[in-house]
Amino acid sequence: MSRVLITGATSGIGKQLAHDYAQQGWQVIACGRNEAALNELRDKHASITPLQFDLTDIDQTLAILSELPFTPTLWILNAGGCEYIDDGVMDAKLMARVMQINVLGLANTIEAIQPHLKSGHRVAIVGSIASELALPRAEAYGASKAAVGYLARSLRLDWARKGIDITCVFPGFVATPLTEKNTFEMPMMISVEHASQSIRKGLEKGVANFYFPARFTWIIRLLGMLPYGWQYRLARRFFAPKRTTS
Ligand SMILES: NC(=O)c1ccc[n+]([C@@H]2O[C@H](COP(=O)([O-])OP(=O)(O)OC[C@H]3O[C@@H](n4cnc5c(N)ncnc54)[C@H](OP(=O)(O)O)[C@@H]3O)[C@@H](O)[C@H]2O)c1
Repeated sequence: MSRVLITGATSGIGKQLAHDYAQQGWQVIACGRNEAALNELRDKHASITPLQFDLTDIDQTLAILSELPFTPTLWILNAGGCEYIDDGVMDAKLMARVMQINVLGLANTIEAIQPHLKSGHRVAIVGSIASELALPRAEAYGASKAAVGYLARSLRLDWARKGIDITCVFPGFVATPLTEKNTFEMPMMISVEHASQSIRKGLEKGVANFYFPARFTWIIRLLGMLPYGWQYRLARRFFAPKRTTS
């Protein structure tokens, strides 16, 4: 039987992945902090084992992940958070919170799972297409996801000799509690069902870098390939707030 561990399985993309893998007959370890959401998953699917921990707490993460009910062959490191910087006014505490979850929390999780990893396993790391183009208000979130993308590419080089594969997943906009808070327009947004289907397909194919939805992520990637001066002019024209006169 196929076995998967998913972080951030209590909400949004991770929750849908947990449901869908369980429905497909996989054994699933679902991770998160929200106890009620974890219990709901366990009550719906006998094949889901919940694990409750805060991945920003290194000791808790190492302790909880040290003993697993079974060894997954697929590890989806999806937990993440998003906060925006308003009006370009730096908020270092906000920056720390975002980095703590998206970057340091990811590092904590990788350290905790690495004793279980074997040749033939795949680790999927969820980044964001936001890392491919500098956007206004994304000083914290975009920078954290750029760090995630770099970490994934670097780790892929180091783990190749161990036979452990890494997929970096770059989603565009997906309708989840994370994006529900956004007040700006989110072009070509897709449902969690669609996102889960795309991710599962990409992982089955064993792609190293996986971008979805295709059309939106291609546009952002093409913009991200332009010289920085052009990227700046286009991002400023289409995404940045207009200049105030006072
Ligand atoms: N939605 C999008 O448009 C979009 C686009 C690009 C990339 N992404 C990325 O996709 C991933 C999932 O996003 P989503 O939209 O599904 O968000 P979401 O609905 O807000 O879910 C976030 C998940 O992360 C978990 N999490 C957050 N902080 C945690 C912590 N300290 N310890 C343990 N778990 C924690 C949450 O679980 P608990 O609250 O139970 O701890 C929750 O299950 C994130 O990495 C996000 O950056 C999303």
